[in-house]
Amino acid sequence: MSTPRTAIVVGGASGIGWASAKALAADGCRVVVADLNGDGAKARAAELGDPHTAAQVDVTDEASVQRLFDETGDVDVVVSCAGFSNVGLIVDMPVEDFRSVIDVCLTGAFIVAKHAGRHLRDGGVLVSMSSLNGRQPGAGMSAYCAAKAGLSMLTQVAALELGPKGIRVNAIAPGFVHTPLTEAAAMVPGVVEEYVENTAIGRAGQPEDIAEAVVFLCSPKASWLTGEVLDLNGGAHLKRYPDVMGHVMKLAEQS
Ligand SMILES: NC(=O)c1ccc[n+]([C@@H]2O[C@H](COP(=O)([O-])OP(=O)(O)OC[C@H]3O[C@@H](n4cnc5c(N)ncnc54)[C@H](O)[C@@H]3O)[C@@H](O)[C@H]2O)c1
Repeated sequence: MSTPRTAIVVGGASGIGWASAKALAADGCRVVVADLNGDGAKARAAELGDPHTAAQVDVTDEASVQRLFDETGDVDVVVSCAGFSNVGLIVDMPVEDFRSVIDVCLTGAFIVAKHAGRHLRDGGVLVSMSSLNGRQPGAGMSAYCAAKAGLSMLTQVAALELGPKGIRVNAIAPGFVHTPLTEAAAMVPGVVEEYVENTAIGRAGQPEDIAEAVVFLCSPKASWLTGEVLDLNGGAHLKRYPDVMGHVMKLAEQS
């Protein structure tokens, strides 16, 4: 019997990361569920059962990320999912709010890529979670859009640098997926409806839609695929992003 692949899923306690952790475990990986929410990660690892484990990590803190990788040892798969967003017009946004999103979504992804690049075995894979907002702007989402555009480019640079070590680096750019991250936006009337109108397929996403692609990108079936940012959004990249800020303002005017 072959040794199971070791996978670290950063941001694995919730949403897309959790769905990816489950799917990778079902695909035969030994999964380390790593998250800022250490208790959440523990509960998720317990749900997966033996031999899966949990770790607390803060992607904005390099020492914490280094500890995660040092304690795990050599890895085959790293899925980098930590992220969050805020909403606000550029002219109103405190600089620290802008920085906080860049810190997690871009600098945090860089720190994970740095240590993944040091610990992934030959044949290993890094998959990062970019976003449709890396290519489609949304008013009120400057920090998130800028961070995800940066992450898409970071993915391509990392693929060039790590390719000679036999490591593949890809990203997925999901559209609107129902998770705790999007719960508040989904409650604003018009947001999901407008997203769905602007897809080709006619629906928003579920975490499992993304997890299936993670499993494929991490598998030997994708052994020639690197430096790719996969648009996974029901075809929303073919049209335009919903006016989230407009819907929020409309709701505020009504209340
Ligand atoms: N849900 C969507 O529609 C959508 C669309 C495009 C991209 N994404 C991206 O996918 C990724 C996962 O999003 P989600 O929707 O599953 O969100 P989520 O909020 O359900 O999960 C995000 C996880 O990241 C963790 N996290 C946050 N900051 C962290 C930090 N500093 N260190 C370690 N972990 C941290 C959170 O604790 C949480 O468990 C994010 O990068 C997000 O930007 C989501």
